[in-house]
Amino acid sequence: MKKQFIAGNWKMNLTLEKAKALVKELCNGLADSEAVDVGIFPSFVYLKDICDILKGHNVFVGAQNMNMEKSGAFTGEVSGEMLRDIGCTHVIVGHSERRAIYQETNSMVNAKIKAALSNDLCPILCVGESQEERDADKTREIVEGQLSGGLEDLTSEQVEGLTIAYEPVWAIGTGKTATPEQANEVHAFIRNIIRSKYNDDTAQSIRIQYGGSVNSKNAKDLLGQPEIDGALVGGASLDSNSFLDIVSEAVKFS
Ligand code: 13P
Repeated sequence: MKKQFIAGNWKMNLTLEKAKALVKELCNGLADSEAVDVGIFPSFVYLKDICDILKGHNVFVGAQNMNMEKSGAFTGEVSGEMLRDIGCTHVIVGHSERRAIYQETNSMVNAKIKAALSNDLCPILCVGESQEERDADKTREIVEGQLSGGLEDLTSEQVEGLTIAYEPVWAIGTGKTATPEQANEVHAFIRNIIRSKYNDDTAQSIRIQYGGSVNSKNAKDLLGQPEIDGALVGGASLDSNSFLDIVSEAVKFS
């Protein structure tokens, strides 16, 4: 079994005071949870404060997005170097909200992954199909396209530094979770793609998280699936008790 990785994507939520309070609650509750990797992904403007609070604690801090360019005239954007500079270790890339609302393409996602890796940031690459795509039996085609595009020109060593998050769009923020079997099937498909593009070692070592309405009640069944190596949690990561409960479930499968 791999060490599970539970990540909290806070999206555009919380105030600075609430974010700091939540981090402190997590630190208290996580005292003996070294068996699992835990990461939180606050909004850009809170990252520095939260990195400072978490210095010396066993919790990763990452951004929800980044720009693919090194520096320059890109008003409003944040580079990988800037994230590294303030203490981030991770970054979410290609979240479905960024793909759908901000028209991020697979080639942009690929450029962001390369920029993240060149700044020693570990990317979490998000993939997943919409309800229409699932209904049209296109889940595999969509996920395969997102993986091929997102991972273009990456070596097996680079891919081993990545986490993949399978987040079916229809399960995000809807309370409608994929069944553990549905999720496990797509995870196995993703791992097979990695195996055929790279090799068995890479496929075995890469962690594949599930995301989409994960909560303290369904975490056990999802994380208990053989192909599921963690969770990317949205709504339930905004409450310390729910998030800590999910981490506790993950401890049983690490
Ligand atoms: P929810 O857990 O709120 O469905 O969000 C999932 C998600 O998008 C995490 O990136």
